[in-house]
Amino acid sequence: MKPSTALPLPPQPAILIDSHLDAAQERSLADDVLDGLTRPFKELPPKHFYDARGAELFDRICDLPEYYPTRAERSILEQSATELAEITGAVELVELGSGTAAKTRVLLDALQAAGTLVRYIPVDVTESMVRDCAAELTSEYPGLRVHGVIGDFERHLHHIPPSSGPRIVAFLGGTIGNFPPGSRRRVLREIARLLKPGDHLLMGTDLVKDPDVLEAAYDDAQGVTAEFNRNVLHVLNRELQANFDPEDFDHVALFDRENEWIEMRLRARREIHSHVGDLDLAVHFREGEELRTEISAKFTPARLEGDLASADLELVRWLTDADGQFALTLSRPTASL
Ligand SMILES: C[S@@+](CC[C@H](N)C(=O)[O-])C[C@H]1O[C@@H](n2cnc3c(N)ncnc32)[C@H](O)[C@@H]1O
Repeated sequence: MKPSTALPLPPQPAILIDSHLDAAQERSLADDVLDGLTRPFKELPPKHFYDARGAELFDRICDLPEYYPTRAERSILEQSATELAEITGAVELVELGSGTAAKTRVLLDALQAAGTLVRYIPVDVTESMVRDCAAELTSEYPGLRVHGVIGDFERHLHHIPPSSGPRIVAFLGGTIGNFPPGSRRRVLREIARLLKPGDHLLMGTDLVKDPDVLEAAYDDAQGVTAEFNRNVLHVLNRELQANFDPEDFDHVALFDRENEWIEMRLRARREIHSHVGDLDLAVHFREGEELRTEISAKFTPARLEGDLASADLELVRWLTDADGQFALTLSRPTASL
């Protein structure tokens, strides 16, 4: 067991939660809708799927037989968490897009067993997720402090509290793949700025594979992913007084072989004239017209190393599951070598 190298944290309750959403978040949704629904090829960023219902639907997706990424990533964590704890000596874990932190517990267990774990800092746009997981984890891990940050990891990274010792920043679930290549590198650079010498980034990425396997993972037989996809229209109806009928749209998931990413789209079943009340915006869909709601990039080792290098990060460990479906990479700032 490693002794803890944590600096003493100032006295604080077991749970602290900061919220950086509210009016600003509504503005971001409004801006994204105004921008994305007036383009020649309509598009919305995937972060708007995740209201409480969207987060619950995503949780159900994680248990679907077709959705292998969650199981694969969990198996890598189970196999490697002890080694990760040993290499990093982390006293705290910051998790971006933490959701229910289901897999995170594997890592927390290993850090606790190593005797270093002091604090967990979940960062997510879904308020209920951050609050629920803070309550659950402080009861599951006596003595653990949780400092939850309800916010957008594209805009609020500067609100993450200063570190109290070696830190792992975890970005699991393949969420980095939701960004197209240019933005992906920008986001990675911003995340890398959170890392001091001695800190590590632990990132999950889905790997390029048989397109049939990939497409099935985003178009399950029970239709849960279709509901998740349509949920963004429920969000627009509720948050911006829009009048979409989600049932007017088919769920589409396809693998773009050239870009090596999955696209989720909503395809209009008929011609639609809708209105977004709060923006006084008329939105027209031709029959068959599509709205792109998510990309999920798939990685090769070369793609990943290129992205990490562009953020001045160097690979420390490249870990995959037994079937080579998913990768977990541990990297650190090049300057710390
Ligand atoms: C694909 S899920 C992954 C959840 C979990 N990390 C896992 O591995 O199962 C993406 C998570 O990131 C959150 N999220 C998406 N975009 C976000 C953003 N821009 N800022 C903060 N959280 C975001 C969602 O609310 C959701 O919990």
